[in-house]
This record gives sequence, C-alpha cells and structure tokens, in this order.
Amino acid sequence: MLPLLNVADYARAARAKLSKEVCDYIEGGALDEITLRENTTSWERLKLYYHVLAGVGTRDTRTTVLGQKISMPIAISPTAFLKLICAEGEIAAARAAKAAGTLFVLSSLSNTAMELMLAEAASPRWFQLYMYKDREITFELVTRAEAAGAEAIVLTVDAPGLGARERDIRNSFTLPDGLAVENLAPLGKGTMPRVSGSGLAAYVRDNFKSNLSFDDLDWLCDCTRLPVVVKGVCRGDDARRAAEHGAKALIVSNHGGRQLDTAPATSEVLPHVVEAAGDLCEIYVDGGIRRGSDVLKAIALGARAVLVGRPILWGLCVAGEQGAVDVLEILRRELDEAMLLCGCTTLGDINRSLLAP
Ligand code: FNR
Ligand code: LAC
Repeated sequence: MLPLLNVADYARAARAKLSKEVCDYIEGGALDEITLRENTTSWERLKLYYHVLAGVGTRDTRTTVLGQKISMPIAISPTAFLKLICAEGEIAAARAAKAAGTLFVLSSLSNTAMELMLAEAASPRWFQLYMYKDREITFELVTRAEAAGAEAIVLTVDAPGLGARERDIRNSFTLPDGLAVENLAPLGKGTMPRVSGSGLAAYVRDNFKSNLSFDDLDWLCDCTRLPVVVKGVCRGDDARRAAEHGAKALIVSNHGGRQLDTAPATSEVLPHVVEAAGDLCEIYVDGGIRRGSDVLKAIALGARAVLVGRPILWGLCVAGEQGAVDVLEILRRELDEAMLLCGCTTLGDINRSLLAP
C-alpha cells in the first residue's frame, strides 16, 4: 500500500474498506450535494498572500477554547454512530483527541454511552445535544452529560429535521443489529426504525424538536451550569442573537453539507459571523477542512479554531484510534508548515491580510 500522506489518501483508503451503505452515510450530503462540494472547494479557492523575511523560527500552534488549553486549533466535530466505522467507535475517537491534545465533542447519537466515553476522554470534552421533543429526555441528557464530566453543551441548531440525503434514502439506511443510540436507550429512544427510506430521517422526525427556537436556547442556558455552544450558524444576525441569548461560543457550520443544500460554504459565511458576534463570543468553524492551510485560512477569517468531521471518520476506518491520531497529526504538520511559509510564528500572527494583497 502506498504511504498515506494526506487526508485525501485516508479518504480513498476508507472508501475501499467500507460497505456502500456506511460509505454513503458518511460521505453523503443533502440533495445535489452542492454545499458538500462547496465546503471544500471554497477553502481551496482562497489564496494565501504570504509574508517573506519574517524571521519565523519554531511555530506555536497552542490555543484555548472557552478557556481550556488545546495543543492546536483543530478539534473533532461530533459525528454519530462511530461503531459503524470501527469496533471501538467513540472510545477510539476520544482517545485520539487525548493523544493529540485537543478537544473531542461527543454526539448525542453515539453508539457508546456518554458515561463510558467521557471517562476515556481528556479535558476538554464537550457533549453535543440534539433537543428532543420530550423536554424530560433532553433535560436528562444534559444532566447526565454534566455528571459524566462534559465541560460544555454544544446545541446543534441546523437539524430541526434531517436533510434529504438521497443516498441514505436509496439504501434504506439504518443501524445494523447490535448497534443502538446508546445515550437514549435508557430513555426508550435507543432504536432506529427499519423503514423504506432513511431510518435515521424517520428517527429524527419522530424525536427531534422541529420547532426549535431562541426560547429553547434560553431554556438550555437556564438548566445547565455548563457553557452552551451553538452549532450550525450560517448568518450574522442569528449569530448575534444566539450570543445575546447566552451562547458562549458559536460553530459556523452547515452540518458538512448534510442539511440544507445550496447553503453557502462555511468559509463564505465565517467573516460575517465574526463581524456580527465576534465581540460577544468565541467563533469556530467546520466543514470541508482537509488541509492544514485550510485551518490557517479559517483563522485568518477570524475563527478561533476549526473542527473536522469526515477526516476523523476516514482515519478511524483505516486504522482505528491510531488512524484518527495520524489524521490529526497530518493536519497539525500541514498547519505548522503553512505558518512557516506564510511568515507566522503564532496563531496571533495569522490575520486577514494573508488573504488579500
Ligand atoms: C455529522 N455531523 C453531526 N453533527 C452534529 O451536531 N451531531 C451529529 O450527530 C452529527 N453526525 C454526523 C455524522 C456524520 C457521518 C457526518 C459526516 C457529520 C456534522 C459534523 O459535526 C460536522 O459539522 C461536519 O462533519 C463538518 O464537515 P466535514 O469536516 O465532515 O466536512
Ligand atoms: C447526521 C446526523 C445524525 O448528520 O447529525 O447524520
């Protein structure tokens, strides 16, 4: 096998290993997958006007998120059902984040119970929340996450219903026997139905709160002592409102192109969100980050850190925990190299001027 040099190599190797159904679930997006493609190509289109003679020695990629130290501005996005990808599932991903010294965000829809998983993760570790129609279920998830050691609650707001992922509809995607939505199993919502069409879409329709509003954000901020992070913001006005309603950080995200197709690429939205709400809260971004230079561009546009989804899944598929660590280390090395070639010693040296002459 050729050496796996970059994230795209991991993607190819993962595709060769996965079943069509799981591969389509991971890789796919909503409808025509326009946003999915744009997320990556719009980072590629941004050009770097590098500085020379900047006297850069050793680079420093350390930063903080909500006051907690991480070794680099690259964290792991919450993604559902990691046992579809490797036997150790969420535990492998959490250990990879710990090994790389970065943030792990556990999905509500994990195949490992949060109590088991959060015990394996190092600080910082956050819990991603889907709001259920049933308030008591949602409250229970938040309370358990607090007790299990989560240090923030990440409320995903771009999925009041599931985007139409036509690949999953064709495959009648559901969880195989033996895998469950473990966090919800004690609450009677652990099983994904077998239906014609997407079982996940049916699960979301039955269970997720579709009339999600700023009142729900207020409710969440009131019912937890943890900081609340809002994930899935696309506009400056919503961003500012979310911050005014108590969000301590925002993740500019379109769910990896899996929700509203033809939503703009996150790199296009990010500067507007930073301008509207950057004075009130921290702003991170995910979607289509495949190279360390993309991370540098995101920081130049005002993000404090990025998160990656599919690259971690490809790493887990190829070599479990070690594969995910390798992917994180590739991105770290590429960011470090991009900093050297751009004339940046610290993340604080990265600014908008690198993207315009
Ligand atoms: C996701 N994403 C997601 N987001 C979330 O808030 N909760 C979840 O359970 C999931 N599940 C999930 C599963 C899979 C297979 C994918 C690919 C994505 C979205 C995820 O957190 C993130 O926003 C995107 O994956 C980022 O885009 P990239 O890095 O995959 O391009
Ligand atoms: C997804 C949901 C589970 O994107 O967030 O598949």
